[in-house]
Amino acid sequence: MRTQVGIVGAGPAGLMLSHLLHRQGVSSVVLESRSREHVEHRLRAGVLEQGSVDLLCRTGLGERLLREGLRHEGIELRFAGESHRVPMTELTGRAITVYGQQEVVKDLIAARLAAGGTILFDAEVTRLDGLDSPDPVVHYRRDGRDEQLRCDFVAGCDGFHGVSRGAVPDGVLTSYERAYPFAWLGVLAAAAPAVEELVYAHHERGFALYSMRSPQVSRLYLQVAPDEDIAAWPDERIWAELRVRLETVPGWSLTEGPVLEKSITPMRSFVVEPMQWERLYLAGDAVHIVPPTGAKGMNLALADVALLGEAFAAWYSHGRADLLAGYSTTALRRVWRAQHFSWWMTSMLHRLAHDDPYEAKLQTATLRYAATSRAYATSLAENYVGLPEV
Ligand code: FAD
Ligand code: DHB
Repeated sequence: MRTQVGIVGAGPAGLMLSHLLHRQGVSSVVLESRSREHVEHRLRAGVLEQGSVDLLCRTGLGERLLREGLRHEGIELRFAGESHRVPMTELTGRAITVYGQQEVVKDLIAARLAAGGTILFDAEVTRLDGLDSPDPVVHYRRDGRDEQLRCDFVAGCDGFHGVSRGAVPDGVLTSYERAYPFAWLGVLAAAAPAVEELVYAHHERGFALYSMRSPQVSRLYLQVAPDEDIAAWPDERIWAELRVRLETVPGWSLTEGPVLEKSITPMRSFVVEPMQWERLYLAGDAVHIVPPTGAKGMNLALADVALLGEAFAAWYSHGRADLLAGYSTTALRRVWRAQHFSWWMTSMLHRLAHDDPYEAKLQTATLRYAATSRAYATSLAENYVGLPEV
């Protein structure tokens, strides 16, 4: 099989890239190790920046998003028994939309298949060859057979645990990392949200986040130990801990309901530079990870491939190589802005490992500043809704 751009991974990055390339008349094949059922039901991020919503709408994917997505114009910061709203839209003119990542993935898969696109599920990429030649080869295994996809370029969109990044020879890439001494326990519950906007809560027992998926379904997160065992968290313990960390404002109470799903996600910051080597272009979680506190992961993945889609289009339609050559440098500006914002939100809101009382005072002072200063709140808000140009 041969195509112009071989794409490894059918997450938001790989699928969106395939969609954008198709709109520009560039062919691609997406190879995905998991089943369609699996990728369409993998519960992950939920917040779309304004720029991501605009991209989806501009490229014909806005219909269900605009109908079912929940547009939010503010978030709440809860700490020290107080509640403060950050009026994002008033401060920036932009908003976020709460729409599950798996819904974005479903919409993208449906659009690609309706347009006759090729996504091979259950096709595990095992090796990339010839990346420094005009004829790269993607080796994959499907139905027990070893197969090859030949292409002009490879887009490595296979997430943090994928194979693409590892195809770059030693010594080419530099990585930057930070580990955090905590994880998030995420819960999906059949409970009507008790809030209209997301609540980010700083509490002495740890961070808690109240989000949602629909008027009937809540999405909640708790800071837990990095090596926490999910078996130690029966539903009743989860609700009790959520009550302690969130019911800190007089007159406010949580709505509870059956837990539909729960899992633990580790937290890390990670960037690899450059995001390209020869004919391999890396995008999304394959090259950068942020802790989820700033809700940036999926948005960054989409922003990367928006650049990459334009760069491939310029190459194929006008023979222009400058956008491809500049991809890594341009993308890394947004990546590092999001790295800083995600690290900053994480550091401000979590209970830190060493229980340093001085640091705890600084956290409250920072939160109070974000809650009361228009200038500081605007900085939070413009990062949260997404900066159009970085
Ligand atoms: P992915 O979505 O990871 O897609 C990569 C795809 O490549 C996957 O489908 C994978 O199966 C496939 N793949 C991997 N290896 C191979 C191979 N060898 N061959 C073929 N295919 C392969 N962000 C937030 O903002 N908020 C959150 O709450 C949040 N929760 C998260 C929870 C978890 C468990 C994880 C892992 C991430 C979470 N994120 C969250 C981050 C966000 O979901 C990611 O940033 C986003 O999925 C990145 O998209 P992507 O397309 O780059 O990678
Ligand atoms: C959600 C996830 C996040 O990481 C975040 O910061 C806000 C909301 C969510 O899954 O809804």
